[in-house]
Amino acid sequence: MTSTIVRAGLSGEHWYLADPDAMSGIIVGNSTARPLSDVPTAAARPLTALTPRSLRESLRLVLRQGDTLFHDAAQTSLLRYRVIGAAGRTVVLSDPGHIKSIMTVDPAIAPSATRTSPLRPIIGSQSVLTSIGERHKRQRAMLMPHFHGRAAASYREAIERATSRAIDGWPVGEVIELADLGQQITLDVIMTAIFGIGDDRASTPAEADLRFQVVRLLRRSTWPVATAAQLVNARNPEPVGFTRWALKPVDAAMYRVITERRKSLGGNDILSVLLDARDSSGAALSDDEIRDELMTLVLAGHETTSNTVAWTFERLTRHREQYLRVREQVRADGGADVVESLINESMRSRPVVPIVARELLAPWDFGGQRIDAGTVALVSILLLHHRDEIYSRPFAFDSERFLQTRPSPTTLMPFGGGNRRCLGSALAMAELRTVVTEILRRVDLETHERPGERPRHRNVTMIPNDGGKVRAVAKV
Ligand code: HEM
Repeated sequence: MTSTIVRAGLSGEHWYLADPDAMSGIIVGNSTARPLSDVPTAAARPLTALTPRSLRESLRLVLRQGDTLFHDAAQTSLLRYRVIGAAGRTVVLSDPGHIKSIMTVDPAIAPSATRTSPLRPIIGSQSVLTSIGERHKRQRAMLMPHFHGRAAASYREAIERATSRAIDGWPVGEVIELADLGQQITLDVIMTAIFGIGDDRASTPAEADLRFQVVRLLRRSTWPVATAAQLVNARNPEPVGFTRWALKPVDAAMYRVITERRKSLGGNDILSVLLDARDSSGAALSDDEIRDELMTLVLAGHETTSNTVAWTFERLTRHREQYLRVREQVRADGGADVVESLINESMRSRPVVPIVARELLAPWDFGGQRIDAGTVALVSILLLHHRDEIYSRPFAFDSERFLQTRPSPTTLMPFGGGNRRCLGSALAMAELRTVVTEILRRVDLETHERPGERPRHRNVTMIPNDGGKVRAVAKV
């Protein structure tokens, strides 16, 4: 019955081409959830081995993640898989009650599953994103003051300048990929916030090389071999094969910048803060720790924000009436509210991080179903954002959806939640508001004439397959 609703809703089997009036058919079960012990009762489990079944299920999730999850969520309220490289079994959650129970509990019994994150071989095991427990708490406390709302506001000028530069260089009449344009902007902003390279200080050759290497790394991560590398690396804490090769020049550039900056301490930027930081015993962070932290901030902040810009216009330009309405509002009075609603709707319908993971170190009860300690719980932000009982017409793109309704942190979670909620969310929102507003204000856009772009999964992100192609028909 439920699967009939889904098939009726989706054209073919692709969720992203679903009829806007379709229902997702995601099963609504019993929303109660609680840990069955308040102390960790399981040592972490061994990683799931390669078997025909785990290979099949892993490939379904890597290659056809969205379709797999929508299909399976219409059959049962708690999805279970065997995923290569994950500790123990894997469950996928999309019920807001179930998600809340793992996001609000003591992180000691549901820590982030960083041990099995596909990002760990790339960003290392010592950063705020890949550490847990006391170490995570300390690093988050150290970085937080540099990422909250006021700090993000202090980067406003840098964001505005980077946006203007990018729009000035935007060729009229040609089809361009907005993910590329977004990357130029977000990289400029990150170089300012993290490395303190603003207009008042030219970058050194080492810093310029780092920028070049980061862009090259991202390009290489789009090669098909990178998807295979993701599976190979899933079983290794250290990078191997292609990933190791691709990281080498970026790491070399990163260490050169760290060495250079150790000789000229004293800036306000994050790198200076990390170089100055001392732990309770007075010890400074090692170069390896600083490298992991910098790599995390550069990668976490860069692709996510630029692809959110790309998705926003991929969606909006395919809904011409909505595009014209928002553009008119922005040109009339700045349109702050409609832009906010547009960004939220874009992140609802195409969350660039569609899944976040926690390791359940205690047994859990999800709506009457018992889950063993040692299970990995994947929170499907994508499914949560498409539940029929929360969002009417979940497959429809409605840029005004959040104009009257304030998004709730339990039902709109593009930045994850709990003690691991995105550290850069205020900076990301500041960037998105400026970039989206300025593009609407200064450029007349046309869609690239095709159905919606296919979502592609790269590491932890879900990005538009063609980079969000649009054509600027005029600049004002
Ligand atoms: C639209 C842009 C962005 C999106 C959608 C996004 C999304 C996310 C998500 C879903 C998480 C995981 C949360 C969880 O596990 O519950 C996360 C973590 C993180 N993000 Fe972002 N992010 C964005 C931009 C940024 C920026 C600009 C930065 C910094 C420059 C950043 C730095 C981080 C860091 C350091 C973490 C790890 C936090 C921790 O584990 O304590 N992100 N982000």
